[in-house]
Amino acid sequence: MCGIVGYVGPRDAVPVLLEGLHRLEYRGYDSAGIAVAGEELQVVKTAGRVGDLRRAVPEGTGGPVGIAHTRWATHGEPSDRNAHPHVDSGRRVAIVHNGVFENSDRLRNRLRAEGVELASDTDSEVLAHLVARSSADTLEDAVREALSRVEGTYGVIVMDVARPGELVAARRGSPVVLGVGEQEMLIASDVTALVRFTQQVIYLDDDEIATVTADGYRTSTMDARSTTRTPTAIDVPTAEYELGEHPDFMYKEMREQPDAVDRCLRGRLDHRFSSARLDGVGLTPQDYQRIRRVKLLGCGSAYYAGQVGAQLVEELARIPADAEPASEFRYRNPVVDPDTLYVAISQSGETLDTLAAVQELKRKGGHVIGVVNAVGSTIARECGHGIFLHAGPEVSVAATKSFTTMAVALAMLALDLGRVRDLSITEGRRVVTGLGELPHTIAQILAAENDIAEVARRYAGAEHMFFVGRVRGWPVAREGAQKLKEISYVHAEAYQASELKHGPLALINPDMPTVVLVPDDELLPKNVATIEEIKARGGPVIAITDADLPPGLATDVIRVPRAHDALSPITLSVPLQLFAYHLARSLGRDVDRPRNLAKSVTVE
Ligand code: G6P
Repeated sequence: MCGIVGYVGPRDAVPVLLEGLHRLEYRGYDSAGIAVAGEELQVVKTAGRVGDLRRAVPEGTGGPVGIAHTRWATHGEPSDRNAHPHVDSGRRVAIVHNGVFENSDRLRNRLRAEGVELASDTDSEVLAHLVARSSADTLEDAVREALSRVEGTYGVIVMDVARPGELVAARRGSPVVLGVGEQEMLIASDVTALVRFTQQVIYLDDDEIATVTADGYRTSTMDARSTTRTPTAIDVPTAEYELGEHPDFMYKEMREQPDAVDRCLRGRLDHRFSSARLDGVGLTPQDYQRIRRVKLLGCGSAYYAGQVGAQLVEELARIPADAEPASEFRYRNPVVDPDTLYVAISQSGETLDTLAAVQELKRKGGHVIGVVNAVGSTIARECGHGIFLHAGPEVSVAATKSFTTMAVALAMLALDLGRVRDLSITEGRRVVTGLGELPHTIAQILAAENDIAEVARRYAGAEHMFFVGRVRGWPVAREGAQKLKEISYVHAEAYQASELKHGPLALINPDMPTVVLVPDDELLPKNVATIEEIKARGGPVIAITDADLPPGLATDVIRVPRAHDALSPITLSVPLQLFAYHLARSLGRDVDRPRNLAKSVTVE
């Protein structure tokens, strides 16, 4: 949610900030703004995207220090006046904020009572006024004092024209990373914004505050105890953040899946014992033996990947397992059990609901590991142990390679758990072989893109679609429906195929296409019967399958190569990404930046 960037150094801040914002746009894109301190404070803000802001910045705007923001609205509609940066009434202090100030109504009323005129409807603006009204000697202390009055979450950067050449950044719940350059410093909510300028970064901890100048940085806690932070090198090649030849990031990221899966598997398949080698999990075989349940937590696609993982754990390890949205789990005062292994799943490692679930679990003594893509992210650090996906940066809002690699990582966890229990070496070997074949199989599916695109375009006129699946196909159906609705805005609903006749069948007619997941497993005859039932009501059927279906059974068939039964949810989900992508493209949608959404949801 929202991207923030700051720069101080010898260059003109404007191009650096605009470049940073451009790369953070996936975090929110309903309005954007920039503030630069030269002789005086120059602020440019606009509803719309970073491209609109770029055009709106007048010639001659510039200076050696500045901050910028791209917004995903929480308080106040997307508009010029609600766009960040916000400034105090004297136009001395400018701030950008990612997160939510929960007590902003109270603070706004108090400021109004003190005669302050508020210029926006946002929760964030209060910070500019509070900092400006502080009588503290340093900007850092003024920010510290102002933040002690807000409740909620923040990643903030503050600039004061009266104290030129420095920026103050602080975090609670929303990520902030410092980029350490040669005689220049950057600040951002994500390394993506920094990679063009430096590879040396420091991730601020919660309740940490930093003052940066061109010469360096100083960090301390909110209660003014200084902290020692040494920069670490970003281990992702800069090219991974570039679009290259691809039309958009979603396409690029779908295409990267064979490599991403290969990286996720690398060094982790144990052929000798037909198991997986997951050193990062930090559990001994004795610990594994003590696990009585596995609970997987995530949001959105990470939750659906968790459902795939739960089935794999039950199937391969015969341990009861289930997945739950982290957002629900954290609010229902969960019973935390010492014999349960909790698994927090997140691409970004910053999703606030998932982070809060991890913190709640830790507070109650639960054992939680992370399945995370972003190294150095808050959830990864909070969990301490787990499995990194190594999928490389994922920029498009719709999860693709992260979903696939999450499922792969969870399959390895299930295999490992199974092999210290009852999974035979022969069956373990089949799973190891199946996992090893995935990169090639996924490449074959991607090679059939044109056929899938053709089917997708045939259904571009549909207003509603069903996605149905049984057992292994059920989370795949949910993820497929999610992908379609988020990037095409076609109403897509997922149902268990077995539940169709208990209600939704009433909606089947020639205008309601149904995507049916048909893995070649013991439930094949049941899924064939489902297709017949839909056809009998005149509903078009698109079968996604690795089985040989009788000719003419489904209206359209998307066939994928057969994988190990337990791994079929992984291969069957790939054509659904291509299906959603091409359907959305044929409707002219901006697939990387779907309306109302953002990639990294760091607010509740
Ligand atoms: C957002 C994104 C989804 C993603 C979810 C969880 O809603 O739009 O694509 O699945 O967050 O994100 P995470 O980074 O925790 O996997």
